[in-house]
Amino acid sequence: MKTFYITTPIYFPSAKLHIGHSYTTVACDTIARYKRMRGFDVMFLTGTDEHGQKIETIAKEAGVTPKAYVDEIVAGIQELWKLMDISYDRFIRTTDDYHEESIQNIFAELYKRGEIYKSEYKGAYCKPCESFWTDSQLKDGKCPDCSRDVEQASEEAYFFRLSNYTDKILRLYEENPEFLQPQSRVNEMVNNFLKPGLDDLCVSRTSFTWGIPVSFDPGHVVYVWVDALSNYITALGYGNTRYGDFDKYWPADVHLMAKEIVRFHAIIWPAMLMALDLPLPKKVYGHGWLLFGGDKMSKSKGNVVDPVILCGRYGVDAVRYFLMREVPFGQDGNFTNEALINRINADLANDLGNLVSRSVTMALKYFEGGLPEERLAAPVDDELTGMAAELPAKIESLMDDLQLPSALIEIFKFISRTNKYIDETMPWALAKNESNRPRLASVIYNLLESIRIAGILLSPFMPQTAPKIFGQLGIGGESIRWESAGKFGVLPQNARVTRGDVMFPRIDLEKERKELEALGGPGKEAEDTLKAQAAAKPEGVVNLVDIAEFAKIELKVAQIIACEPAPKSDKLLKIQLDDGAGTRQVVSGIHEWYSPEDLNGRKIILVANLKPAKIRGVESNGMLLAADMPGNEARVIFVDDSVPAGAKVR
Ligand code: MSP
Repeated sequence: MKTFYITTPIYFPSAKLHIGHSYTTVACDTIARYKRMRGFDVMFLTGTDEHGQKIETIAKEAGVTPKAYVDEIVAGIQELWKLMDISYDRFIRTTDDYHEESIQNIFAELYKRGEIYKSEYKGAYCKPCESFWTDSQLKDGKCPDCSRDVEQASEEAYFFRLSNYTDKILRLYEENPEFLQPQSRVNEMVNNFLKPGLDDLCVSRTSFTWGIPVSFDPGHVVYVWVDALSNYITALGYGNTRYGDFDKYWPADVHLMAKEIVRFHAIIWPAMLMALDLPLPKKVYGHGWLLFGGDKMSKSKGNVVDPVILCGRYGVDAVRYFLMREVPFGQDGNFTNEALINRINADLANDLGNLVSRSVTMALKYFEGGLPEERLAAPVDDELTGMAAELPAKIESLMDDLQLPSALIEIFKFISRTNKYIDETMPWALAKNESNRPRLASVIYNLLESIRIAGILLSPFMPQTAPKIFGQLGIGGESIRWESAGKFGVLPQNARVTRGDVMFPRIDLEKERKELEALGGPGKEAEDTLKAQAAAKPEGVVNLVDIAEFAKIELKVAQIIACEPAPKSDKLLKIQLDDGAGTRQVVSGIHEWYSPEDLNGRKIILVANLKPAKIRGVESNGMLLAADMPGNEARVIFVDDSVPAGAKVR
């Protein structure tokens, strides 16, 4: 049997997961269910990422051990997945003994191979909090936890030789366009991380203890990504004896995640696997974010939406449907209660719910004891049956391509077409005349059969609704299997239906919004503002900034006065600029396309107030603007010589 291995990221133990978190897991679950229906032996893995300084600190504040703290939260996460009907096959906790054993083995192996070495970690350190922070974590240059001053400090640490892998990862993307998707993520990785060149990665710490001890140097704990990413293989039994599925399922078919952690999965993870001489995953897919008010949902912004409340009010399948339908896969999209309720009303209550209830009602009304054998086809049937015949192959190709929203769109086109068939054939008019019974039987049969097919194709998305539909049609076994969606006429000729409860009651939008707001959900005002913004947004633009935000960025014309290759890099140029007020140095990853002679004397646009950074050890004060070109190239934006250096660009 063919295998299929799919993973979610392992979740940080956060007291309340929000609807954005459940997005990744629902998507994985949908794909896993689809693959099982297609006959694959599926391994669907999820779990929790439980180590690190943050947990250690929170647990200390709560007066419990870190393990006791995470145990309770992990139980809550597992409850949520149960509620949302997530059919994972295995759940890994990074605190599981077998995982810890594997990580120690992996770390020691990398060290033995010379891929990990001991050195010094330098960074901003907050003494009272005993914490190191990266520049991006600092808030206004101060500790993000206690707002006190930080100081530069260092500690002994192990490093992974990630810098050796820049070219190998670039080659991986070039040779395997399937590896990282959607394509926009490749551009992000190449331009933001690979072109500037990778730095070695700190993989151990001594400043906290809540982690897996390095077996040969127990003062160190393994730091973050080696521990977290390896879960995808330790959960199969790599480096431990708990499981024996590594050969069966590895390499993974899909690692699915949201875009902010693509970098770790598409750069660090393949580099680690290369270092261990292991096969690479077949695909890393970075979907977009579910936003609220144009912002990523997060507890600190107070804009989180609770999936438990939504599932309780509308049913799990309505929430799952919304998540998979609303946002084009791979892009960002906004969550609003209004959009959710409108989708439930329009697609689920109106289109799907009405189709099922009208058809079942008519079948019962006109043929109480079951459909008669005698039938009469008509040309009007052909469009419906033709569409049904083409649909499964279309859905399969979209699902195989992870285009989940597009698959739902196609299924609902078919549902709408079936509704239209009722209007075209007008069964109530046929029923008036006894001589039309064979034709009426044919119409009702075609309706029920179309519902059966839609029900099968919806099964991976809506695991509770599909059985309800099959229950009303009175079918099971072979006739609800995926393969039978491709055949029209599988429903037993004498099908007997039964009426069921209303699957998706209509919701009163305004009343519901008020109640949700009272429960702490996003308010109407915020949603209306969002709607107005979306209406004003030019097509193709995802994130809008207001003019005040844009004004924070200082753009200036500057003239290149000297330029040379940066040391130890074939991609970087060290450029001296006259910015009108003086001279400054910037480092730019454009050497592949420009030599110093191409640039000397020319005028460019400078981002003048970018925080200084060290790129490959060379100080860079700002950035010059360049345009992304097809084929991962870049073109510097040159400015007319008549514009003086220092001129403001706005
Ligand atoms: N622990 C790391 C992953 C380690 S994997 C080796 C982590 N955990 S997380 O809990 O922060 O995120 C879990 C998943 O939820 C990720 O795919 C993350 O990107 C996703 N999302 C969290 N908020 C989200 C949205 N608002 N929208 C869509 N997905 C989001 O990162």
